[in-house]
Amino acid sequence: MTAFGTRALLKQLEATVEQNLDRHLASAENWMPHEYVPWSEGRNYATLGGEPWSAGQSRLSPIARTALELNLLTEDNLPSYHAELGNTFGRQSAWRAWVNRWTAEEGRHASCIRDYLLVTRGIDPDRLEQARMATLQAGWDSGDKPLLQACVYVSFQELATRVSHRNTGHHCEDPVAERLLTRIAMDENLHMIFYRNLVQAALEIAPGQTLRAIADEVAGFTMPGSVVPGFARKAVQIAQAGIYDLRIHHDDVIMPLVRHWRVFELEDLDSGGEQARQDLAAALEALDTRAARFVERRAEAQAGRRQEAAE
Ligand SMILES: [Fe+2]
Ligand SMILES: [Fe+2]
Repeated sequence: MTAFGTRALLKQLEATVEQNLDRHLASAENWMPHEYVPWSEGRNYATLGGEPWSAGQSRLSPIARTALELNLLTEDNLPSYHAELGNTFGRQSAWRAWVNRWTAEEGRHASCIRDYLLVTRGIDPDRLEQARMATLQAGWDSGDKPLLQACVYVSFQELATRVSHRNTGHHCEDPVAERLLTRIAMDENLHMIFYRNLVQAALEIAPGQTLRAIADEVAGFTMPGSVVPGFARKAVQIAQAGIYDLRIHHDDVIMPLVRHWRVFELEDLDSGGEQARQDLAAALEALDTRAARFVERRAEAQAGRRQEAAE
């Protein structure tokens, strides 16, 4: 397998980045985050003579609060993602222009979710701020992934974020929150398309190397929110509620991209590429099995709770 170094790949993919940045700028809408926040509901907190926050003020269910909090704190960690992407993509040419544009768009997400939550008294603002401080101090370390693996990672991650915002929106049972999260999910979708096209181009330039990156990322994917305080507990609750679980991860995030890239139809792979494809097939099967087991256990637990309630 001819292995391309990072510098060669950055150069080879530069034209694709340029084209996709132009395509992105033509299709992205310059939406106004302040238009999505119900400002008239806002009032002062205690220090300015208002009422302190209490749980009874929130119209959100506990699970909607948990999901919104995790989504927001994940978005909050943007300075780390910006730094990591800058390290991986370099600070030149269209790559740099993309990273800056992407960062500017992502910056809106945290700010308007926070505005919505503070104005509607959706979640405890003191706890939220403490968690934001802890999350940013933990930072996000991508583990110095090779360039292609980073491109695959962000493809999956943007789609995961889109699905997570959309499903959180449904669970909020508040049309204002749903409208806001649907708007954000549209941004995440465009980000996903950018990275998906980049991986597609990489498959043409270096098919074996790109397949290896896909196989490794399917096997080792972790959500960027994993540094948020209490992530494991929150992720379990979010999975139990069906907002984001292994079945959704496999069916709605990993498989649509794997299918789009047509990796199982690629011809003339060398032995390294074939091995990567076999590893990918095994990783997909393992993920599907874990998803099936999770769904089964969740159904059993729900049936158990229903029976307990009936007794
Ligand atoms: Fe975002
Ligand atoms: Fe995004």
